[in-house]
Amino acid sequence: MSSKTRNLTLKVWRQKCGEKKGRLETYQANNISVDMSFLEMLDVVNEDLTKSRKEPIAFDHDCREGICGMCGAVVNGRAHGHEKDTTLCQLHMRHFSDGDTIVIEPWRSRAFPLIKDLIVDRSALDKIIAAGGYISVKTGGAPDANALPIARDVAETAFKAAACIGCGACVAACPNASAMLFVSAKISQLALLPQGRPEAAKRAQAMVHQMDECGFGNCSNETECEMECPKGISIVEIARLNREFFKAEFS
Ligand code: SF4
Ligand code: FES
Repeated sequence: MSSKTRNLTLKVWRQKCGEKKGRLETYQANNISVDMSFLEMLDVVNEDLTKSRKEPIAFDHDCREGICGMCGAVVNGRAHGHEKDTTLCQLHMRHFSDGDTIVIEPWRSRAFPLIKDLIVDRSALDKIIAAGGYISVKTGGAPDANALPIARDVAETAFKAAACIGCGACVAACPNASAMLFVSAKISQLALLPQGRPEAAKRAQAMVHQMDECGFGNCSNETECEMECPKGISIVEIARLNREFFKAEFS
C-alpha cells in the first residue's frame, strides 16, 4: 500500500425502502486514492458491487462541488463527516487513515423519510421554503447595485446566511431533529435586506409553523447544528429568527 492509497472497511446502511428493515453491511474499499472524494470512493465500491452483480449503494449527489446540497450522510456519527465546513462530496479520503473502519448512515429524522440506503426525502425543507412565500416589493428592472445603499456589514451577514445549501445536516446533527438553523438562514438572508423587511415577521411565523407541521423537533440550543453545518451558518441566525417570529406572534 502506498501512502497515496487507503484500504478501508465500510459499514454501510442498506435498506430497500422505508417499509423494510435496514441493516449495516460490510464492504472492503481497497486501494482508494487519497485524492478521491468520499463520493468517488463510494463510486469505486459501487463499481465492484455492480461487477459482482450486487445492488449498488444508493446515495444522493449532484454538483459534487459543495453547492447544490444534494449529498449527505452520517459518517462515523458526524453529518458530512468530521472535517469542518465540508460537504460529503468535498470530503477527501486523505482525511482517513489506512485500515480505518467507516460507518456510513443516512440522515435520521422523522421529517426525512428514508427512500433507499443513504437517500432520504428532504422535500420537507422545500415545503418550509414555499411557506415563506415571495417578497411583495416591486424591484422593477435591475438597478445599479449602489442605488440602494446597504451597509457593508449588513450585506455580508445576509450573504453569509444565503450560503445555506439546504442539505439538512443541521437536522441530522440535532438531537431533536430541529430544522431551526436552516429556517433561520432562510429568514436572515431576506430579513436583513430592505426588499425582505416588509414580510420578515410574517415569513418567520409561516415557516416555523410549517416546520412544526412537517414533524421537525424544537430547538433546545444544543448547538450541534452549527458544528456540522458545511456552510458555517451561525446559531446567531436562530436568535434573529426568534425575534421575527415573536414579533409576528404577539403583534
Ligand atoms: S443551515 Fe447548514 S446544515 Fe442546515 S441546511 Fe443549511 S447548509 Fe445545510
Ligand atoms: S453533491 Fe452538491 S453539495 Fe455535495
